[in-house]
Amino acid sequence: MDREAWRRECRRIAEERFDTLFAPTYDRDGAPASPTHRRCVAAVIDRCPPGGRILDAACGTGRFFGMILQAGRQVVGVDQSGGMLTEARAKHPEVTVEKVGLQELTFVAEFDAAICVDAMAKALRAGFQRMVVRGSVWRAAIWTSRRSTPASSMVVT
Ligand SMILES: C[S@@+](CC[C@H](N)C(=O)[O-])C[C@H]1O[C@@H](n2cnc3c(N)ncnc32)[C@H](O)[C@@H]1O
Repeated sequence: MDREAWRRECRRIAEERFDTLFAPTYDRDGAPASPTHRRCVAAVIDRCPPGGRILDAACGTGRFFGMILQAGRQVVGVDQSGGMLTEARAKHPEVTVEKVGLQELTFVAEFDAAICVDAMAKALRAGFQRMVVRGSVWRAAIWTSRRSTPASSMVVT
């Protein structure tokens, strides 16, 4: 199998797993947002002007949409799993979501801040800088939340 075919197959499997295995149960059985999660997202929200736009990259079922909306900011979600986005839409039909891979995002200076939670955020660092408004304060929250270890967090400016 050549490299491109291998990459496509990996992606197909990843999408299928989230569409079929995780999407139906993620909100019910997945780890709820921990205090660390919420603290990191709150730090991002605080640095975004009221009414500002936040990109939630790999948003999944939109676990943080409510928190962002309640704080008076707008949110746009992107994810490669149609199944996860279906759950997000059901909870927050008012939020624009798009089925697209992180590696295919073409936004340029469209957001005041961007977050990527429990996904592949490290790969996004350069892309985040392009997607947010030049000169604005922006943060990407990155962390892991394995049940076996205390949640760790890193906020990148
Ligand atoms: C553990 S879930 C986290 C979802 C959400 N950020 C949260 O904190 O609840 C990981 C998400 O990343 C998405 N994902 C993984 N790789 C991706 C990629 N390359 N492009 C877009 N989404 C991706 C999956 O479909 C899944 O919804």
